[in-house]
Amino acid sequence: MNSNASSLAEKAAIDAGLDFSRLPVHVAIIMDGNGRWAKKRRLNRIKGHEKGAETVRMVLRTFRKIGIPNLTLFAFSTENWQRPKTEVAALMRLLKKFLLSEEQEMIENNIRLNAIGQLERFPEDVQKSIQKVMGSTEQNDGLLLSIALSYGGRADIQKMVYDIAAKVKTGKIDPAEITPELISNHLYTRSVPDPDLLIRTSGEMRISNFYLWQIAYTELYMTKTLWPDFSKEECIGILKEYQQRNRRYGNIEE
Ligand code: FPP
Repeated sequence: MNSNASSLAEKAAIDAGLDFSRLPVHVAIIMDGNGRWAKKRRLNRIKGHEKGAETVRMVLRTFRKIGIPNLTLFAFSTENWQRPKTEVAALMRLLKKFLLSEEQEMIENNIRLNAIGQLERFPEDVQKSIQKVMGSTEQNDGLLLSIALSYGGRADIQKMVYDIAAKVKTGKIDPAEITPELISNHLYTRSVPDPDLLIRTSGEMRISNFYLWQIAYTELYMTKTLWPDFSKEECIGILKEYQQRNRRYGNIEE
């Protein structure tokens, strides 16, 4: 067990009987249901995203205290650009606010920020805040927080094929050298292990163009809870359920 044993989140995890020797190395989350959460309360969708940003803070803190080394949050997909301009702008504002308000806590708690996706499509001020926090946390070697921004699994694969094809064309890579490892090393996630567990909130049973290549052997957990209602207790419960799963990777049980 790590030195944070006295922290509240860990206490909740200890009380729940979580096995700290069998934690997932990488958890990825599709944070869904902010709009429905707001609609149920007759609020503007943006209020749902604001409440969702609070859940992001809680989940990050909980995972850091438990000692999970990698967390990916699917914050903005390649398709999300199609949403109304006001909603896109609100999401940009919330992202920037989150990054700048969490920067100090990330530095103090050994969290490294890794933004992945088509970052060049973001407004300059958002890009600057991403680069600022990536720079100020780059020496950290605790939790690696990957935030998927203008990310799409297909766009990731398309870019990987383009980059490998370009290297084949100039003779840097021989086609015989194209292995699963080489492919993984040309994706946005090249510095991150494949997820052990993928959580999706809001009850939808689909991947929605999130990680595709990376989830070949990932355990899936779909919960009906809307993202703004997602709690520390449910989060720990899902980790416990993950520890009951029998992962065989296509092999047979020992
Ligand atoms: C899905 O809910 C959520 C998103 C498209 C964006 C996720 C953003 C946040 C959680 C807040 C800001 C992010 C960070 C990293 C601080 P939805 O709008 O698709 O919900 P619905 O399906 O109910 O309409």
